Amino acid sequence: MKRTILIFSYCFLFSLIAMAQRSVSQLEKNWKFTKGDVPEAAQVNFDDSKWETVTIPHDWAIFGPFDRNNDLQNVAVTQNFEQKASVKTGRTGGLPYVGIGWYRNEFDCPAGKQVTLVFDGAMSEAHVYVNGKEACFWPFGYNSFHCDVTNFLNADGKDNILAVRLENKPQSSRWYPGAGLYRNVHVVATEKVHVPVWGTQLTTPHVADDYASVRLSTTINGAGDENIRVLTDIVSPEGKVVASKDNTRKINHGQPFEQNFLVNTPALWSPETPYLYKAISKIYVDGKQVDEYTTRFGIRSIEIVADKGFFLNGKHRKFQGVCNHHDLGPLGAAINVAALRRQLTLLKDMGCDAIRTSHNMPAPELVELCDEMGFMMMVEPFDEWDIAKCTNGYHRYFNDWAEKDMVNMLRHYRNNPCVVMWSIGNEVPTQCSPEGYKVASFLQNICHREDPTRPVTCGMDQVSCVLENGFAAMIDVPGLNYRAHRYMESYKNLPQNIILGSETASTVSSRGVYKFPVEKRASIKYDDHQSSGYDVECCSWSNIPDVDFALADDYDWTIGQFVWTGFDYLGEPSPYDTDSWPSHSSVFGIIDLASLPKDRYYLYRSVWNKEANTLHVLPHWTWPGREGENTPVFVYTNYPSAELFVNGKSFGKQRKLTIEESRALESKDSLALERRYRLMWMDVPYEPGEIKVVAYDKNGKSVEEKVVRTAGKPHHLEVIADRTQLSADGKDLAYITVRVVDKDGNLCPADNRMVSFSVKGSGRYRAAANGDATSLDLFHLPQMPAFSGQLTAIVQSGEQGGEIIFEAKAKGVKSGKLILSTLK
Ligand code: GAL
Repeated sequence: MKRTILIFSYCFLFSLIAMAQRSVSQLEKNWKFTKGDVPEAAQVNFDDSKWETVTIPHDWAIFGPFDRNNDLQNVAVTQNFEQKASVKTGRTGGLPYVGIGWYRNEFDCPAGKQVTLVFDGAMSEAHVYVNGKEACFWPFGYNSFHCDVTNFLNADGKDNILAVRLENKPQSSRWYPGAGLYRNVHVVATEKVHVPVWGTQLTTPHVADDYASVRLSTTINGAGDENIRVLTDIVSPEGKVVASKDNTRKINHGQPFEQNFLVNTPALWSPETPYLYKAISKIYVDGKQVDEYTTRFGIRSIEIVADKGFFLNGKHRKFQGVCNHHDLGPLGAAINVAALRRQLTLLKDMGCDAIRTSHNMPAPELVELCDEMGFMMMVEPFDEWDIAKCTNGYHRYFNDWAEKDMVNMLRHYRNNPCVVMWSIGNEVPTQCSPEGYKVASFLQNICHREDPTRPVTCGMDQVSCVLENGFAAMIDVPGLNYRAHRYMESYKNLPQNIILGSETASTVSSRGVYKFPVEKRASIKYDDHQSSGYDVECCSWSNIPDVDFALADDYDWTIGQFVWTGFDYLGEPSPYDTDSWPSHSSVFGIIDLASLPKDRYYLYRSVWNKEANTLHVLPHWTWPGREGENTPVFVYTNYPSAELFVNGKSFGKQRKLTIEESRALESKDSLALERRYRLMWMDVPYEPGEIKVVAYDKNGKSVEEKVVRTAGKPHHLEVIADRTQLSADGKDLAYITVRVVDKDGNLCPADNRMVSFSVKGSGRYRAAANGDATSLDLFHLPQMPAFSGQLTAIVQSGEQGGEIIFEAKAKGVKSGKLILSTLK
């Protein structure tokens, strides 16, 4: 296996940095991959020339095919109160993630260095071999781990053979986990005396407007009795050195090297002002520099005050958060920064300010982006502890690995200002065991030991158990998953006098699909396997968004929420999870799998985004066959009132109710609570034409209008890219929305025709999705049917600057075309 390109690129890279003491590179290209077990592949001379050549991040399962029998599970989902096992179809996405896979590559590194491989995540049960010998094993597929391979390298540092064996067992997950080397792999080469991986801990013990103190603890490995000099500059967001320390000391008993700084008039980090500083440390031994290590950080304070709530930099706020699984819809689990940025951009505009990494360690790129774009994070490691949720889940490893997994997570992310809270788990069955509190305390203590600055929470759903057995009372911040009706009781009973909505809503809806009559319903199923876009349906254990808005508005001691979920994800197709193939992805998302906002997006935006106005009308107004039938109209808006007109005829004004007005209406109107947050005209006979909504401000002045028209015949494909200029790095993405519209540009909301794509020039077609949880069309093929008239095609830049020409074609309508540019 001689992969010349890789070797040349590494030689080039290493000659560039030959003088540097530390080099960090990513192993991305020219990996060889095969599915199936090939134990000989660990050996140096193994011939892998027939294997597929892949670039990582790589998810071997996302290419399908979908199949009902992939990881078919016969289980009782006890969290959902199921007593008897039943066949769960599509629970993990119906994709072929189960099995063994091997990856091989070759790398060079400078001779005589300490070399560590860092895996951001490998799904799962990774055995890592270097030059034929097993260098490390890490079972948990979501965690980052590192592996000192110094002793396994060839003497000249060249032609080292890296082989990785991964295995995903059936029934190891409750959602789509992805498969393979789905996150990045780094090669870190250092001198003998060096800062190890995640080797600094930076805290800000005092934060005020006039000054902040910064404490940096730097672990230095490989040092003996010699004097070590550490010169650290603190660099401001504008790039100025604002504080420095130059200290020389011995490393006593392996203790970290501590330095303290004062930063005057610090620029504080918050979601609205994501200012980032850097601590750049140069390490010297005997007058010679041996290492340079940069710690990026933010200056901010966090505080939880009983009865009062959560404070960031002394300002009271409530989490307006979402939970997300790690997959990126049609890209699968393979990490991509542009895809993450796209997600965060949409969430930001919605007014979301926090992310919960449910229920596992995130990709480092997500944490970095949250630092940069301004999102608070609750980072969570586990969905199960020592008691199983899935036959082959993490419980098999918990006793031996939980502490190691926690330590990696905590050291990896404890310097990121965006992380404001750790979670130790999600709805773990252990919460109800009499000894469960011991496990919780073991995990919480690890958090406190590794990071005394952040509070710890746990997502609890078995409220009776945890109130009774002391489990909830010992968590820093009690987090309730759903059970909104038990918040008050929990608040009163628990000593912390604070409640976090660690997981909320689980409202279900399908983009552009509306069900009649419009009624609040739980766990309701329809023949088409969709849920209503009127945002009135949820699961038996959950609720619709308005309930959580009210809890946040009405009580100081609720510190906000993390909605299940920001984005739809592969797997867990509730309420169509029991023998309901082809349903294979969730309908919980505020935004669908194609990254297109559902109506619900605007409901959250109208409450959360205080900077922009929202005026959104639903449903669509193209209902052939519904003439004369009642077709309620909802408006999601931050304006206090609005008036509805159908073909020019007023249906009257609606105004948002106060809490008192809504309570007074409760016995008469099942939507009384919702009337605080939505404007609803429940009796509107459908007639084709147009609906117009005029919004009024608090003085009754008309300020904005929205019109929705009945669509004519499908005429052409409208194509809109989220970005028109990409970077020519071979990874950047444009998300192109394709809409089937009539000749005037009105969306044809029932159109599901097949659309095909061509991409020419300096980029390639990457994937497409339509947000239909029942669609088995493969994402990577250049065609996809529209769903409710829309879909998303994703185009990836090449490595040469130039133009990308994208075209979408479909039978019976004119094609749509656009040109993107890519810049080197
Ligand atoms: C919760 C669980 C989530 C997801 C959700 C669906 O109980 O924590 O992982 O399963 O239900 O409503």
